[in-house]
Parts: sequence; C-alpha cells; structure tokens
Amino acid sequence: MAVRRLHHEQPPSFAWTAENAAWAEVVIKRYPPGRQASAVIPLLWRAQEQEGWVTKPAIEFIAEQLGMAYIRVLEVATFYTMFLLQPVGKKAHIQVCGTTPCQLRGAEDLIKVCKSRIAAHPFEMSPDGAFSWEEVECLGACVNAPMVQVLKDTYEDLTPDSLNALIDGFASGNPPAPGPQNGRQYSAAEGGETTLTDPSLYDGSVVGKYKVPADAPAEGGDKPA
Ligand code: FES
Repeated sequence: MAVRRLHHEQPPSFAWTAENAAWAEVVIKRYPPGRQASAVIPLLWRAQEQEGWVTKPAIEFIAEQLGMAYIRVLEVATFYTMFLLQPVGKKAHIQVCGTTPCQLRGAEDLIKVCKSRIAAHPFEMSPDGAFSWEEVECLGACVNAPMVQVLKDTYEDLTPDSLNALIDGFASGNPPAPGPQNGRQYSAAEGGETTLTDPSLYDGSVVGKYKVPADAPAEGGDKPA
C-alpha cells in the first residue's frame, strides 16, 4: 500500500453545505460535553461525500469545529484507507484488497483488470476521468475473497469477469447490488450447507428431547472427582 499523504494540489477552502452543516451539528450533539472528537470519523466521511475526497481545508475545518489539534484529525484521515486523500474517478474509485486471503483467491487477476480497464497505475484516472483504482490492505471481508470496495460498499467473491461487469455497471450508472457476486448469500457455504442439514433441527420437533448424560460435567465446570 502506498504511503498516504495529502495531495499536492488542494482547494483554497472548505465549508459545509447548509444541509451538511445542520447534519454535523446534530451528530456532534450525540456526544457528551468534552467528547466532540468522537464525531471525527462521521464528519470526515461526510466531507468526503460532499467534496469527492478529503481535502486539507476540510481536515482543518473539522479540527476547528471539534476543538481538536489538526494533527489528530490528519492522523485519522491518513490512517483509514476509506478516506480518499486525492481526487478519484467520478463514477467509482475501486479499492482492491491485496492482502493474503484475497491474493490467494485471485486479487492479482483483479488488479490486472483494473490496469487494463482503468489505468496502468494506482490513482491514475481512466481517460474519461470516470474511474481510478488502488490496492489496499485487508478490508475485513476475507471470507468472501477476493473483493473490492467502492466507497462504503464491498463487492465480494469476484472474478475478472464479475469485476468487468461491476465496472460496466458503474459506467452505465447501474452497479450491481453490493455483497457476493457469485450468487451466494452473505458468507454462507458455497454450494449449500454440508452440516446441520437435518430439517428437524429447525422445526421445533426436538425441543426438550435432549437428555443430559448422567456422567456429563456439572454446568459451569468439571464434574467433581
Ligand atoms: S484479505 Fe481481503 S478482505 Fe481480508
């Protein structure tokens, strides 16, 4: 993963829209007096939604609003890869997980798709400015590896074909539903269950029929010798 620094080109200033200013006030009031810093992540996220990325003026504005040292807000913004520190593709910035489980399940092939469909290098815009991509560390959906994240949504169980379909979907303004792209439900077993398949386990017919064996350890500890 690249070193995360603020972009060399920054807008001159930042201010909330009227709607976001009202929203920020409500969010800040959720926290007890003296704990307004707890609102830093929602505010940074909202600033990103408003501007398309997290700018230095936005970080300074939020630090001021929350009574935090600028460096503290900068630390948060540069730590989490969900905060985009430079302009990205207008339709989608694709964050490809490149950590071990995703690597073992084909992340390199997904990166090849990004290189051929979007741009040769991370954070380089596609020729029409609609897409960009980067490689990030584990995004917490390893059980459905390989996966990518686009803003707050994750797209999982990907193949080069389904990633191509995902890019086509964003290009046409009609991306697929987030989650697994191979038809499985959440992280349920691919191909269906292989254990606990007896329907009587779930219809209530065996409730109360289980008998504790006489030599079972006492509840809460081993059986006394
Ligand atoms: S390794 Fe890719 S989501 Fe965890």
